[in-house]
Amino acid sequence: MENPRYVRSDAIDILAGFAGGEVEVRGWVARKHTVGGLVFALIRDGTGYIQVSARKGSPAGAFEAARGATLETAVVVRGQAREDGRAPGGKEVSAREFEVVATAETWPITRTAAKSASYLFDKRHLSIRGPKAIATMRIRAEVIGAAFDFFREHRFQLISAPTFVQAAVEGGSTLFSLDYFGKKANLSQSAQFYEEAALPALQKVWIFQPAFRAEKSKTAKHLTEFWMIEAEQAFADQKENMEVQEGLLSRMVERVIANRQAELKTLGRTLKQPEIPFQRMTYDEARSVAEKKGFPFEWGDDLPTEAERAISLTQDSPFFVTDYPLTARSFYHMTYEDRPKVTKSADLIAPEGIGELATGGQRIHDYQQLMDRIAKQDLPTESFSWYLELRKFGMPPHSGFGIGVERTTRWIAGLRHIRSASLFPRTLSRISP
Ligand code: 4AD
Ligand code: MG
Repeated sequence: MENPRYVRSDAIDILAGFAGGEVEVRGWVARKHTVGGLVFALIRDGTGYIQVSARKGSPAGAFEAARGATLETAVVVRGQAREDGRAPGGKEVSAREFEVVATAETWPITRTAAKSASYLFDKRHLSIRGPKAIATMRIRAEVIGAAFDFFREHRFQLISAPTFVQAAVEGGSTLFSLDYFGKKANLSQSAQFYEEAALPALQKVWIFQPAFRAEKSKTAKHLTEFWMIEAEQAFADQKENMEVQEGLLSRMVERVIANRQAELKTLGRTLKQPEIPFQRMTYDEARSVAEKKGFPFEWGDDLPTEAERAISLTQDSPFFVTDYPLTARSFYHMTYEDRPKVTKSADLIAPEGIGELATGGQRIHDYQQLMDRIAKQDLPTESFSWYLELRKFGMPPHSGFGIGVERTTRWIAGLRHIRSASLFPRTLSRISP
């Protein structure tokens, strides 16, 4: 395949003018049309799209090869890169050689077929080649990359935790259970307990890995397998915990705005940099806003989806809802000294009707207090006795949170459904491809 006469070049470099003259481009035929004696093929590579033209009568048969190449055929094109005002991006490669490397059958994703979302997801192994899926994956990677940078700068240590677990961090109703050599085990809902265990070793930790929830609801915000970024910090209260969250989310937005303008445009998304500090409203305030909007709910319930959506629509930037009732939270949440029914916790909520992106809070660090809580809620302790034992060996006040990668990507990229934020989504009704 190599030909020393040509410089192997990426579309992005040709478009930027970094690569010119004799180039070799490797990619896939994304679009094609023929005008008289000219074939125009839009070639997609890992960096973008570049137009290639092949003229009738070109000596190496480039015209015939290009004319015969079907959509999604893998090709290597060699030729002259030059300015062309009519080409997308203002650059074009006029092909001297148009080498077909792997042909493609008739592309099944026609304009009509593409109208069915379920068809597109059945064919997700192919449909991910579309510009919107590509733009979304790049934005997602930018969001994740921002987290790596943010946590390094703030001296949070990256750790990993098991996926086969026994404890239910977020309650029994959404557990995927499995048989582990005769023992009952679950897929991890959250790595939080392992993060807490790592605190005395590392003080500030973060984690990036899949979480599993047997969500029986079919909504635009639930996956059964999703990626979560979680962080946990010793000697930190809930106020500091919220500061980490707003710092992280605004860094993610900043990075996407700085580096992914073309992708945002492809998705038709205008994204605004949120201002720090984010708004904070209490659960009680949120509840009265929801009531005014016609979505009342009982004090003590978690925010119902419609109420959360209504509250979210009143804001134009991410915000926190703080001070959730204990009844709406997991057992490990710390309550206020003077308000035993209210937790030191918050949800980070995205505007525009999107809703919850993150949940965080301060944990009970005192052994007896945690045991009392567990007794009150009548929880079985055998599966996480180790978690309780941590409280006997120097566990200071600490707090942390988990933020969903797909939910965050959904909001930042302006996607209608969370499944589009995943390359191969897992939902109630989908485990393939
Ligand atoms: O709110 P959750 O359940 O909180 C926890 O798991 C805590 N233990 C995290 C912690 O404090 N370390 O989940 C955290 C986030 C949610 O806010 C949401 O963004 C995402 O994980 N999430 C889901 N994303 C997609 N599909 C689902 N079924 C999700 N469930 C939670
Ligand atoms: Mg939550």
